[in-house]
Amino acid sequence: MKALLYVPEELTPLFFTPSYASLTNEQRVSYNRLHGLYFLEQTIFFEQFLGKQGLQWLARHAPSADLRCEAQDFIAEEDQHSAWFRELLREIDPQAYAKSDFHLLAASQLQQTLTSKLSANVSWLPALLWLQLMAEERALHFGRCYVRHADEMDPRFLAVQRKHLADEPGHIRRDLLFLEWLWPTTPAWLRQVNAWLLEWLLSEFFLFPKRSGKRVLLEWLSLHPELELKRTTMLTEWQQLEFNPRYMKSLYPRVALPKTAALASNWPELKFMEAFLSD
Ligand SMILES: [Fe+2]
Ligand SMILES: [Fe+2]
Repeated sequence: MKALLYVPEELTPLFFTPSYASLTNEQRVSYNRLHGLYFLEQTIFFEQFLGKQGLQWLARHAPSADLRCEAQDFIAEEDQHSAWFRELLREIDPQAYAKSDFHLLAASQLQQTLTSKLSANVSWLPALLWLQLMAEERALHFGRCYVRHADEMDPRFLAVQRKHLADEPGHIRRDLLFLEWLWPTTPAWLRQVNAWLLEWLLSEFFLFPKRSGKRVLLEWLSLHPELELKRTTMLTEWQQLEFNPRYMKSLYPRVALPKTAALASNWPELKFMEAFLSD
């Protein structure tokens, strides 16, 4: 019987390298398990460090009681999601996740603190709201991918993604409400600075896996000494992912980010988004 997966293979970078075809099923599942855990860590990081303090600011400063209430509900739901993901991480690997939610994600304590401090300044860093909208649209896209591959998935990982999927449309709706208020009220020069920042953040941290994704690969290789002879080839293939159109197109497909594409097209400073999203 084929072993169950923790994340659909098409959401993992190694799947797009030529060497993947030469791995045994056991080696693939072992990589998949680690990447599946990292995927949960990444979602917790987004929810708790990149988004939360910005939402707390919105819950205090948004211009209407309705909008402030939306931000409060949003925070409560994201806390609930992080609790589900945390619980699953501890169920799978109690030792690794006993003290921290982050075992594979490459963000030091200092980076976590700095990220949440930055996120608290969403009033002059509305680029973070764009990042959040894009992360939510991608979460919906990823969740649907889990459901499409339901037969191959570990039922615990599938169940948590199904629950997450149910809340994401409401989060996207709220991200749009916040952006539709905050972006136009931001001065044009600051919007331009934020647009440059957004473009840089996306390409540096949220595109080709230079840090955490690679850490998953290295951790996995350390568990498989039998792959020592293939190691150099696999690392080279990993570096070449940046030039692999199939992989790069899988990251931000326009069809998965329709709200981002539509809203960004109203703002000339976000013109880069047209080329950033792939067809
Ligand atoms: Fe969430
Ligand atoms: Fe969300």
